[in-house]
Amino acid sequence: MFSKDVYIRRRQTLLAKMKEAGQSGLILFVGNAEAPAQYKDNCYKWRQDSSWLYFMGLDEPLMAAILDIDSGSETLFADDVEIDDIIWMGPQPSVRSKADAVGIAHTAPYGALGQAIALARKSARKIHFLPPSRYYNTLKLMELLGCQQTGKEASEALVKAVISMRLIKEDIEIEAIDAACALGYEMHSVARDSIAIGLVEQEIVGKMEGVALAKGWGVSFPTILTQHGETLHNHGHAAVIEPGRLMVIDAGVESNEHYASDFTRTYPTSGKFTARQREIYQLVYDCNELAFSLTRPGITYREVHLATARKMLEGLQALGIVKGDLDEMVAEGIAGLFQPHGLGHNMGLDVHDMEDLGENLVGYDPDQTRATQLGLRSLRMARRLVPGHVITDEPGIYFIPALIEKFKKEGLGKDFVNYAKLESYYDFGGIRIEDDVLVTADGARRLGPRRLPASPDEVEAAMAR
Ligand code: GLY
Ligand code: MN
Repeated sequence: MFSKDVYIRRRQTLLAKMKEAGQSGLILFVGNAEAPAQYKDNCYKWRQDSSWLYFMGLDEPLMAAILDIDSGSETLFADDVEIDDIIWMGPQPSVRSKADAVGIAHTAPYGALGQAIALARKSARKIHFLPPSRYYNTLKLMELLGCQQTGKEASEALVKAVISMRLIKEDIEIEAIDAACALGYEMHSVARDSIAIGLVEQEIVGKMEGVALAKGWGVSFPTILTQHGETLHNHGHAAVIEPGRLMVIDAGVESNEHYASDFTRTYPTSGKFTARQREIYQLVYDCNELAFSLTRPGITYREVHLATARKMLEGLQALGIVKGDLDEMVAEGIAGLFQPHGLGHNMGLDVHDMEDLGENLVGYDPDQTRATQLGLRSLRMARRLVPGHVITDEPGIYFIPALIEKFKKEGLGKDFVNYAKLESYYDFGGIRIEDDVLVTADGARRLGPRRLPASPDEVEAAMAR
């Protein structure tokens, strides 16, 4: 947790932003509750809601808060433990002391929340809330507010105010993300050094996730480790590692402070790339480098995405996989056949930061519209960059037989794609290279103390060690 003044300042800023936007009434934050996995006393691993963590800091279940925009008054709703709880959980700090730790003046029992909200509704006060990401919170909000669609009825003014704050990382957050990236570096190094022919993929996952658990909260999302990198989010780890394949490892650590890292590297299982693997790897690497070199305040990440798409097509053209005018190919979205995802996303307390608040509100400026084209439509961060943005740079090239066949059957890209040549890549797999990047005052910085080996030579040298 950060110091008390951080949370006080953030809540004051939020209230000021709401006032500036002409809003009045109450802001209601509902923290997460434990979520039973099989039965009520055997729950999924505890994780607090990220916006709650950002404004309230308290990392415990079953808490809520009301901030009064008009009076500035703040109340934490939570219960002190009783003897039955103490038997199972041991003694716990009082709610009063928890509220003090984050500078909240008033406390009330969790059960008093209903009455407080009922009173506000009776006086027709506006109640602002964020779209909930968990079912418990959805149900709680429906119960408290009598609303049917918590997503639709959530406060856009509040969502926008929260996004405007969480999107621009404070110095203490950048430090925390750097620390999460240091753990990510360590986890990925263990993974890379564990690759051996004959091992089951799961054995590597176990070793690497051990680092995340030993030094942080755990992984920031389910680990992707696969020799079938052409399946973008492949969570199966049952395969035996075979020689001559490519292994995509896309994984991150969430620190104990709950900040994420998210790196991807692709390794030749035998330690050296084949000539064909190296050609495609070099191209993905060049796209990653190009994106980083373009990342600076003033440019939009949509422009960076499109620049890397162009670079990718240029490289694929040199290999005879596509042909034709580059600008036309970019406009037609031909790159989406090879990279059907966006260049990157925001990262912070969530690995895809704030996507629960609405992907377009988070990743798009008011004057930008999201594309419908394969690839570009999955771009989750398109905004004009400003210092303090933390984003991922993760180009990839994938040969997805089913997608290529679909394109071919429907005659898509028939003027540009050399389908005969592409067939020889059906057993290739996929390659992705991902770094986490901070937009600085005059450019960008890759987060973490060191960059994981990334160029083809660096990767082979690291694997040789
Ligand atoms: N690293 C997983 C993702 O960005 O979707
Ligand atoms: Mn990512």
